[in-house]
Amino acid sequence: MLEINGLNVGHDGNAILEVPHLSVFTGEHCLILGASGSGKTTLLSTLSGLLAPIAGELLIDGCNVHKLRGVAMDEFRGRHIGIIYQTLHMVGALTVLDNLLLAQYAAGLPQDREKAIALLEHLGVAEKKDHKPETLSQGQLQRVAIARAVINGPRIIVGDEPTSALDDRSCETVMELLLQLAASANASLVIATHDQRIKRHFHRQITLEGGQ
Ligand SMILES: Nc1ncnc2c1ncn2[C@@H]1O[C@H](COP(=O)(O)OP(=O)(O)OP(=O)(O)O)[C@@H](O)[C@H]1O
Ligand SMILES: [Mg+2]
Repeated sequence: MLEINGLNVGHDGNAILEVPHLSVFTGEHCLILGASGSGKTTLLSTLSGLLAPIAGELLIDGCNVHKLRGVAMDEFRGRHIGIIYQTLHMVGALTVLDNLLLAQYAAGLPQDREKAIALLEHLGVAEKKDHKPETLSQGQLQRVAIARAVINGPRIIVGDEPTSALDDRSCETVMELLLQLAASANASLVIATHDQRIKRHFHRQITLEGGQ
């Protein structure tokens, strides 16, 4: 479960938006909408433990995430939060499979090749496992990014515009995969987007009014 109390997020001490209270229960999903510049990425960075809040707290399964430091923070993030970035951020020098093994290693978990390959198979990109990310199509990369985000069985899967670069068919496939993976792991999806096509999949929607 994710719980926010009195959260104030921004950069360099400048607040962009405030979320007084929000609870997302295990297995529940939440869509964050808002115009460009309204603070979606900033909020997700804070929810992912990457950006410290200006004020307030973020609890994931009772753990006050921003109180963690150093390796404890990195391992918590690697194990419990699956992040799909707005720009996909693969390690270009590594193969697709090694990018997944790196995610396990960074979380302090054993590297499990079979599990990584099975996940790539499930997502329909196993034939690319020994290729470098730059040789994949946008839709294939998106699937690898999803595989990397879910490989450690996170409690929360955070996605920043995970579908906006995709055509209608891939958008639908990616959305279905995310919902299916979240359901099988009993994880919550927290997705920020201005992609109107995925709105119907989410019962809970929050629209950010912040920004310039
Ligand atoms: N690293 C940063 N340092 C300082 N200000 C930033 C930084 N990143 C974003 N901002 C500012 O914070 C505000 C919110 O930006 P953010 O990227 O969170 O918006 P967004 O809703 O994700 O927009 P988009 O839909 O275009 O991705 C903007 O005014 C932006 O200029
Ligand atoms: Mg953004």
